[in-house]
Amino acid sequence: MTVTIVGAQLGDEGKGGIVDLYGDHADVVARYQGGDNAGHTVVLDGDEYKLSLVPSGAVRGKTGVLGNGVVINPRTLFDEIDALKERGLDPDVRVARRAHVIMPYHRLLDGIEEEAKSDSDLDAGTTGRGIGPTYEDKVGRRGIRIGDLLDHEVLRERLEYVVPQKRAIYEDVYGKTAGEEFDVEALFEEYSAIGDRIRSAEMDVNAGEFLAEHLHDGDNVMLEGAQGTSLDIDHGIYPFVTSSNPTAGYAATGTGLGVTDVGRGEVIGIVKAYLSRVGTGPLPTELDGELAEYIREEGGEYGTVTGRPRRVGWLDLPMLRHAARASGFTGIAINHLDVIAGLDEVKVGHAYELDGDTIETMPATTERWGDCDPVYRTFDGWPEVDWDEIAAEGYDALPAAAQEYVEYVETEVGVPAYALSIGPGREQSIVRTNPFA
Ligand code: IMO
Ligand code: MG
Repeated sequence: MTVTIVGAQLGDEGKGGIVDLYGDHADVVARYQGGDNAGHTVVLDGDEYKLSLVPSGAVRGKTGVLGNGVVINPRTLFDEIDALKERGLDPDVRVARRAHVIMPYHRLLDGIEEEAKSDSDLDAGTTGRGIGPTYEDKVGRRGIRIGDLLDHEVLRERLEYVVPQKRAIYEDVYGKTAGEEFDVEALFEEYSAIGDRIRSAEMDVNAGEFLAEHLHDGDNVMLEGAQGTSLDIDHGIYPFVTSSNPTAGYAATGTGLGVTDVGRGEVIGIVKAYLSRVGTGPLPTELDGELAEYIREEGGEYGTVTGRPRRVGWLDLPMLRHAARASGFTGIAINHLDVIAGLDEVKVGHAYELDGDTIETMPATTERWGDCDPVYRTFDGWPEVDWDEIAAEGYDALPAAAQEYVEYVETEVGVPAYALSIGPGREQSIVRTNPFA
């Protein structure tokens, strides 16, 4: 069966930790969208692994697949694989031949377009990884795919078509001086060698067939989403979004499995107990001042990929209702309950006030979302406790106020909380349901 993991908010919900938690029951872990803009942290035996491209399960010896919907920067991929090898691991990572490649010029163009947009406050605060420009080229039918790296003749042909276009944009539109990133020969040399490495390591697969065979053999497949629902290019807060679909429908499109395979399985929404945001744009339940500082420090809310301090806010229920519908959550996991411990009271944005109406889900335009005033509900805070002890004892040991908070979220989102995280390590979680069981 499949279990799909989807971020319910704005990314950084702790998806990596939940993938890791259930990963033992999975045989294969596949990513279906995004690229090295993701930052997934896995803590194993006290050692921290920060991964942006290698699927989290690979740290525990699972086969990791980067599906066709992922955009792959091979430099990052091999850096990560080599770093894991240096730490004594031997990750088994496969890449879809249909996946698109992030080229050096994509990164440059990402930065430059953000700069151009910043005058009008339309910059998304991207991670600068070239994600948007690569998806643009994919849809524009001028992208370079993993399969093209394996065939030198095709690679050269593609480069000769696309690179002069990119160079012209860089030089003539933005008035910059192009370097190696726009040199067909230099790119051919590096990327044909990368293709050779992929082939000799037997990493390239037809992802859909590969995964379907595993399912057919009775294996468990985890589909690991990156980013979150409100960063979704269709369902998120456009234009302050990423350029792919983290929502569950893309778990099929981005791997080559059927929607029925995904739909027969479980879809778990990952919810952080509060909000965090690295990029720009409105955020109705945003906090500032001392309280924001407290949560930022307690939660270590600094970007995994970019190191930027994250904006923080109270949990936003309309956002969660929207996410649950858009992906069809069958369960949720609520993370970082420990981070907001020690507060006198905890608030949640239960609904919004918009033009005198009370609404319970997100408006479809970001401008209207920015006009929303949250209608708060206030909960009693819960104390700092010995979280290890609580993890060992289980849900009933959780402070009553925290239980009340969890049960409120379950009711509003309409599905049960399968797991709760109360600390960074896998052991610091309360597992109530195993979705693979
Ligand atoms: P994980 O998988 C949080 C945000 C960026 C920016 C917008 C577009 O760790 O949850 P992009 O580089 O994707 O074009 O940037 O999306 N963003 C994330 N925010 N977590 C992430 O990934 C993110 N990936 C992209 O900050 O606002
Ligand atoms: Mg992250």
